[in-house]
Amino acid sequence: MSNLMPDTIGSEAALDEVLTQPRTELVQFIKTLKSPLLILGAGGKMGPSLAVLARRAADAAGHPLEVIAASRFSDSAARDWLEGRGVRTVVTDALRREDFAVLPEAGNVIYLVGQKFGTSANPSRTWITNTLAPALAAERFRSARMVALSTANVYPMARVASGGSREEDPLTPLGEYANAAVARERVFEYFSQQFGTHMAMLRLSYALDLRYGVIADLGGKVLRGEPIPLANGYFNAIWQADANELILRSLDLAASPAAAFNLSGPMLAVREVAERLGKLLQRKPVFEGSESETALVCDTSRLDRLLGAPATPLETVLRWTAHWVSRGGRSLDKPTHFETRDGTY
Ligand SMILES: NC(=O)c1ccc[n+]([C@@H]2O[C@H](COP(=O)([O-])OP(=O)(O)OC[C@H]3O[C@@H](n4cnc5c(N)ncnc54)[C@H](OP(=O)(O)O)[C@@H]3O)[C@@H](O)[C@H]2O)c1
Repeated sequence: MSNLMPDTIGSEAALDEVLTQPRTELVQFIKTLKSPLLILGAGGKMGPSLAVLARRAADAAGHPLEVIAASRFSDSAARDWLEGRGVRTVVTDALRREDFAVLPEAGNVIYLVGQKFGTSANPSRTWITNTLAPALAAERFRSARMVALSTANVYPMARVASGGSREEDPLTPLGEYANAAVARERVFEYFSQQFGTHMAMLRLSYALDLRYGVIADLGGKVLRGEPIPLANGYFNAIWQADANELILRSLDLAASPAAAFNLSGPMLAVREVAERLGKLLQRKPVFEGSESETALVCDTSRLDRLLGAPATPLETVLRWTAHWVSRGGRSLDKPTHFETRDGTY
């Protein structure tokens, strides 16, 4: 256990090490969890590092917590990676009630299942994933404490000068993905009321590591001299290890009726982040258009007050990213489309 951050990250192994190194706050918290901890939808961008972070925190605490990762594991490498690090995996399709029936009882559940990109091509897939799967999960784990991932896309654009959307704001966004994400929250909320399930819903805005995320997208554009659209000129983002830690510690905030929290770092300006990356990369960023008065931004002060602000400074993430992209570090090739303003994904 260490809270030290390296100057640079030179390989995926080093990146995985940084992403899964538990901080003291998490090691203390994890001792309070009863086995098993179940992570649903663990095969995507966040699930593997989240599961291994929990595993390492429990090991550091000397706490015999079983961590189970359930997903379809469309990417079988994620499954092997988890198994190799002490996380038990179960192949589960969250659209099948019979798959839920064979999952072990769990007192603590993290729900990561979601579908965003590809919505325009296959909207029904997005809607069924974001409605039926939450219903089946909530029905199966009605006695558990649950942290369910949502997204800041549930809000419409907010005025930047207002400081961003707050939890009590209306959930009236644009576009099918965002509306399906509202439905995901409403389904969880309904079951939390019906069954008294203790639940926290986290409206995450842009988690990132060096292989994906808004800052990696911007770093790549600056390096290649590609124009950076400014119309959606502000965003919130959070280093993935910080997001994962706060997701796990949010089990403590689960309540009935379900409580919602914005999860991210402070609001950032696209122009400023690109200019800072430009200095590190010794390139002048090329901009396109100009900032609007509104953007997809949120105010994270509620969760910051309860659990503390994300620990990794922006300066560190910018330095790591510039070093990573300049060396041609691997990208997942999953652009965030942070510039999108019409809700089409
Ligand atoms: N990363 C971000 O910046 C961000 C921002 C806002 C909100 N979120 C939310 O946070 C959650 C986790 O984020 P992420 O980046 O890890 O998302 P992700 O990469 O899309 O991963 C979600 C995973 O859910 C699994 N899944 C989808 N349908 C499933 C099904 N029918 N049964 C079982 N598993 C299924 C998929 O893995 P398999 O193919 O293995 O099943 C998928 O990879 C998502 O719900 C997302 O909406 C993320």
